[in-house]
Amino acid sequence: MSRHYDVESVRREFPVTRRMLYLDSAHQTPLATSIKEALVRFYEEGNELAGPKPVWLRRVEEVRARVAALLNASPSEIAFVKNTSEGMNIAANAIPFQRGDNVLLVEGDHPNNAYAFLNLKRRGVEVRFIALRGDTADAGTFEPHIDGRTRAISLSHVTFHAGHRFDVSSVGKLCAARGIDLVVDAMQSTGVIPLDSRELGATILGSGCHKGLLVPQGLGILYCQSGRDELLPAYMAMSSLANPPQDYIARHDNMALRDDAGRFEIGNFNLPDIHALSASLDLIERIGVANIEAHLYDLGDYLIGHLDELGVRLVGPRDRSLRSPHIYVLDLPGEGWAEYLAEEQVRVSPERDGIRVSFGLFNTHQDVDEFAAIVRRRLAGARS
Ligand SMILES: Cc1ncc(COP(=O)(O)O)c(C=O)c1O
Repeated sequence: MSRHYDVESVRREFPVTRRMLYLDSAHQTPLATSIKEALVRFYEEGNELAGPKPVWLRRVEEVRARVAALLNASPSEIAFVKNTSEGMNIAANAIPFQRGDNVLLVEGDHPNNAYAFLNLKRRGVEVRFIALRGDTADAGTFEPHIDGRTRAISLSHVTFHAGHRFDVSSVGKLCAARGIDLVVDAMQSTGVIPLDSRELGATILGSGCHKGLLVPQGLGILYCQSGRDELLPAYMAMSSLANPPQDYIARHDNMALRDDAGRFEIGNFNLPDIHALSASLDLIERIGVANIEAHLYDLGDYLIGHLDELGVRLVGPRDRSLRSPHIYVLDLPGEGWAEYLAEEQVRVSPERDGIRVSFGLFNTHQDVDEFAAIVRRRLAGARS
């Protein structure tokens, strides 16, 4: 049951829910039937029609426009990339850092974000890891650490390891006021939380598509704010050019880059996954991201109620305004609990501070009840 949409019909799209209690969407979402069918249709087109490439490329542009709408951006601000890491590396290399500049990151944030910037050390750029203030990161977290050489701030919108939901908009306002670039890793928010690129104030935002966007691994989306032509790609291919040579001969005098986010795209697209994303957007748009978010918050409230009753501490924030809708880390030691839950056909992830339960758009209150009952059984065994 959901107050927000017909979750039972969505659940039928995910046959894996009949085999196991899947509480691991922050790791990867299981493949929905309609998305699998879109992939099969794509492969059949390749198999039977030898690939109608112009048709496929037209669809790429349709999906780009729908991704733009998802982020309240314009299609010219969207590029298709490989994953979040590639997006973060594009950002780190595009921002014109000079030797002696610094970039601020959150201590303990996802390593795929951190290493993109740590790699700039060899160019003399300093990475400063900033500790959280309580359970959040906002403008006040970073402001005391900004100096004359701070060029960028990069952070996750939602943390994978404890489900914090950072106040990125306040950081965006700070960055705009101080002339600093803001890079956002939105891997754990796309498809789960309504995103507004303008509201967030991001210069560049990147996300893979294999969690809230429901697509198999290998596709990422990148938003790059329009009008930022000084942000240059580290790599160049024909697809990066404003006027790709019709005769396919590269020339010194034809190197002008596109002025849209497409300048960051390299060569051919991941066409199967872009077709999968089209089907996934059909599902997500039909439900509405705001409804997905509201449903997942309801599940989270319900889970927290059970945890209180069981005496199990939540590692991350409890307050809705500080927490993600879907990620909950339980203060249970990974060792022992991970094996027990796997034996009980429950899929979760052991995290650095406990066991991570994460919801997807197909999870129900009954899933939460079943999970709580399974946890209760082991706790009762341990206490008796
Ligand atoms: C916040 C965050 N960033 C990045 C990633 C993954 O990066 P990539 O898309 O490059 O595999 C994850 C999870 O796998 C994540 O939770």
